[in-house]
Amino acid sequence: MNLISIFDLTQSDLAWIIERGEELKRARKTLKTGTELAGKTLALIFEKPSTRTRVSFEVAMHELGGNVISLNWNELQLGRGERVRDTAKVLSSYVDAVMIRAYQHDTVVEFANAASIPVINGLTNFEHPCQTLADLMTIKEYKNRFAGITVAWIGDGNNVCNSLIGGAALTGMHMRVGCPLGYAPAAAVLEEAKRMGCEVLITDDAEQAVADADVLYTDVWVSMGDEQERERRERDLSAYQLNEEMVRRAKEDAIIMHCMPVHVGEEITEAVLTSKNSVIFEQAENRLHAQKALLLRLFRD
Ligand code: CP
Ligand code: NVA
Repeated sequence: MNLISIFDLTQSDLAWIIERGEELKRARKTLKTGTELAGKTLALIFEKPSTRTRVSFEVAMHELGGNVISLNWNELQLGRGERVRDTAKVLSSYVDAVMIRAYQHDTVVEFANAASIPVINGLTNFEHPCQTLADLMTIKEYKNRFAGITVAWIGDGNNVCNSLIGGAALTGMHMRVGCPLGYAPAAAVLEEAKRMGCEVLITDDAEQAVADADVLYTDVWVSMGDEQERERRERDLSAYQLNEEMVRRAKEDAIIMHCMPVHVGEEITEAVLTSKNSVIFEQAENRLHAQKALLLRLFRD
């Protein structure tokens, strides 16, 4: 089993991961280490920078009794042009699972097609399914349910947004995206969500998107790999900032989410980031618990 797209998971896989993540979070308060993955090795490959994904996967493996190897793309022969598929075959004979963060989604797909071990997408230009696992765990923690919850995404309809839409479709939440023309989430994701009965409202009116929402979510205007478009993005997205005025239009108990890193003063203000409704740091912590549960699920088969 792989996790390349959030849509790779069934509703029952997802429910299992969230529930197991909650149990692991509770258990960690008294006991940090286990032996569930003793003898297993996970390799992490990074073509782009990472703080949360790298550290949470490393700690997750340590705390489950397994081993982890973190590798930067350019330290590997990949950086000198070795083929992704050859690397996948070789690593499959050394380690038990691989997580890859890559610029192009196709890189992770090629790796998974050639590998004979579970492969996890640790973020591509197209999706960030590991983030969605933590996001769903966080929404359940604060809202106690998914049914009937309205999630409003404000800003760039990017990789994190694509996976979150899948998460909403799998859990029965309503999803709205407030973004400028040209920044909508991927058409293929919207189609798949619709096929599953989740029709996503896409509007360029940010105020319409956030009205009475239960969850407000934003992410950077300039994702890794989009740096050459910085000027245009800052200009186009400037009206899509999660600020106090925007938050006031949502439900009073709406939670504020962001996958981090935050660019304060761009997509979110300091006041909103540090407001009592912000669950952003808890959400970041949940990456650890949700990924432990994911690893247990992947190694179960
Ligand atoms: N949210 C997230 O994936 O953070 P990193 O880029 O720090 O891993
Ligand atoms: N959309 C951001 C998320 C970072 C975790 C990016 O791809 O850079």
